[in-house]
Amino acid sequence: MIKARPGIRVVARWSNPLLRTASGLCLDRNERVTDFDDQTLDTIRGLLTGPLLRRYPSLGSAYLALSALTHHLVEELLFTAGADGAIQAVFSSFISAGDRVVFPSPTYIMYEIYSRVYRAEAEPLHLQTDSPITVDEVLASITPGTRALFFPNPNQPIEYILSESALDQIAYHCHSLGCLFIVDEAYYNFSNVTASTLIRRYGNVIVIRSLSKAFGLAGLRVGYVIARKSLIDILRSMKAPYELNGVTAAIVEQILKHQDIMLDYVRTVADSRQYLRRALGPVASEINGDYTNAVLVRMTPRIDTAALTAYLATRNIFVKHHDDAPIVGRLRITLGPLREMERLCNEITAYCQANLREHLS
Ligand SMILES: Cc1ncc(COP(=O)(O)O)c(C=O)c1O
Repeated sequence: MIKARPGIRVVARWSNPLLRTASGLCLDRNERVTDFDDQTLDTIRGLLTGPLLRRYPSLGSAYLALSALTHHLVEELLFTAGADGAIQAVFSSFISAGDRVVFPSPTYIMYEIYSRVYRAEAEPLHLQTDSPITVDEVLASITPGTRALFFPNPNQPIEYILSESALDQIAYHCHSLGCLFIVDEAYYNFSNVTASTLIRRYGNVIVIRSLSKAFGLAGLRVGYVIARKSLIDILRSMKAPYELNGVTAAIVEQILKHQDIMLDYVRTVADSRQYLRRALGPVASEINGDYTNAVLVRMTPRIDTAALTAYLATRNIFVKHHDDAPIVGRLRITLGPLREMERLCNEITAYCQANLREHLS
């Protein structure tokens, strides 16, 4: 039987995309919740020309737009297939079987999956819902021989965020031990905290970002890496000839040049966060999350969150129910425009009123 090359482990993966109703209010995957406005959609449709389809992609203008947005040189940037693609590129370029890699847990699932695929020795940095991670804990997790620290900042679904000076301390410590420091800034535009300035100071820092979140392009699968040219050259050597297809590149260029669309959405999410905190205040005992487009909600103890999630699904509203330690009995809700949040909060409130009343009678 033909086997995978040494160093690779075959890991069972889900091959069948989720089936979700297009009409549902999907608040379970930290996507943009509503469509772009008609004008933006018309502009995007107008980009789809014959030559764009029949010619090999030309990515120069998309890179220039990304360079203008990030204030980094084109040679310090690499587009990838989502932040996912960037994470995989780092594993396939830098991580060998047996390498020790550290990442928080729970976090974005692909860190664990790629650790298994590339046979890395994964060392989770365990998070708790009730005590935020400290710089000292992170520093202590990096010891001589650690190959890489993957560090989402802010993290999901247990949110923490470390400041730029804390990231500097960690970068310095990793650098002194020859460890790569990969900062996953998928939610950067909601937090505005970044490690990207550290690439000038340290040759071990790699920043990963996504256009799936604040830019609202999860379906296009676009992310990017910011790092020193020497690291980008290594990552680039592994890439397919065209890291973006031509249609994607044209849309990305357009969206990056119109930052106002992203900024508007970030403001919308901020307003909705305030609204949701007020609206769910009477029925929630804890609402966490300030730096991404999602919140983690703990309902008042008499509400069964699994039953509430199922009820919401019957109302065509989908939220994520977390019930594995250390996140037990929590709802993760993606924030979106006020109207959609009102619909959600009204349903939750109605459910709670009916069920608390039942409980009391
Ligand atoms: C921390 C983190 N990193 C990366 C990703 C993947 O983003 P993308 O859609 O760009 O692959 C996610 C998606 O939820 C995430 O939460």
